[in-house]
Amino acid sequence: MKCRKCGGRAVLELRRHNTALCGPDFVGFFRRHVLETVRRWRMFTRDEPVLVAVSGGKDSLALWDVLHDAGYRTIGLYLDLGIFDYSRASKARCEGFAAERGLELRVVAVADEAGAPIPAVRDATRRPTCSACGLSKRYLMNRAALDAGFPVVATGHNLDDEAATLFGSTLRWDESALARQTPVLEATHPKLVRRVKPLFRMSERETAAYAFVRGIDYIVEECPFARGATSIAHKEVLNRLEDTSPGSKAMFLQGFLERARGLFQARETVTLAECVRCGQVTTGEVCAFCKLRDQVTRATRPSRPAPAAEAHPLDLPGTRGLIADLHAASEIHAP
Ligand code: AMP
Ligand code: FES
Ligand code: ZN
Repeated sequence: MKCRKCGGRAVLELRRHNTALCGPDFVGFFRRHVLETVRRWRMFTRDEPVLVAVSGGKDSLALWDVLHDAGYRTIGLYLDLGIFDYSRASKARCEGFAAERGLELRVVAVADEAGAPIPAVRDATRRPTCSACGLSKRYLMNRAALDAGFPVVATGHNLDDEAATLFGSTLRWDESALARQTPVLEATHPKLVRRVKPLFRMSERETAAYAFVRGIDYIVEECPFARGATSIAHKEVLNRLEDTSPGSKAMFLQGFLERARGLFQARETVTLAECVRCGQVTTGEVCAFCKLRDQVTRATRPSRPAPAAEAHPLDLPGTRGLIADLHAASEIHAP
């Protein structure tokens, strides 16, 4: 297989673009696409510093690489979820990446902010790990950016992630999730920072190839709590479609963004307020993260009085509505 551009040996066939490219030409292709996405979707300007949320995986490190190489002012943010060896290894990848390029990496430990690492938060709240984890990540990313004066946070969500999220929301006809699915979540409140996904047009296969060709050392393992997640099943379904009909994922997502999202967005009305406890944005009085931290504190307190016989643990004062809040759409602009 020959590179369509230079005639050299191609390393990657891009069926949906009906082309094949060698390493250097693929790197150029990838960077052009990402930077064009940033410009076309007005994600950030050259003057704005960008906080890049890095997990140690291929997508977010590829994103940081592209933005840094293009001359954007970037700082990395790693949220240490405290998920055993997985977190230790992913943090080491982020630190190594930053050190090699002389870039600044900020590390925030979920245990310091939520009162316990994610596995203990899961035990304390008895909620699906990913919902407590996702809530914590969105809250801490927003707060870290606000505290450091960054107008924008960039994440490494790719085409496969976004198409799978859209597929799941459509299966459930979750109107508020559909209203919020966009590569640019604007700051609709002074205490919210813009959240952008510059890789949303690049497939997982393409970001993996970019990271490989660029020699980025990333963590290959998935989070141990992701096993069996519905989003993985949705990705498999979409991959099968893509195999038989290249371009399906992009068409599904792009068509939604161009033609359907506005309809859902127009119907969505949420009133944002500031949490009376921490000052971050919420749709209620106390934000979901503060409620989560309360629950963790109660569950991890050494000697706590036994709850009344029939009381359900989630009915403790102050925790009502937590479940709804964890899933609540508007809470620090999920997903
Ligand atoms: P995920 O939700 O794991 O699919 O990750 C989606 C994106 O969220 C990644 O590409 C990162 O930009 C960001 N992200 C995930 N985990 C972390 C983390 N531990 N620290 C900082 N950013 C993260
Ligand atoms: Fe959050 Fe796995 S990364 S539960
Ligand atoms: Zn709060």
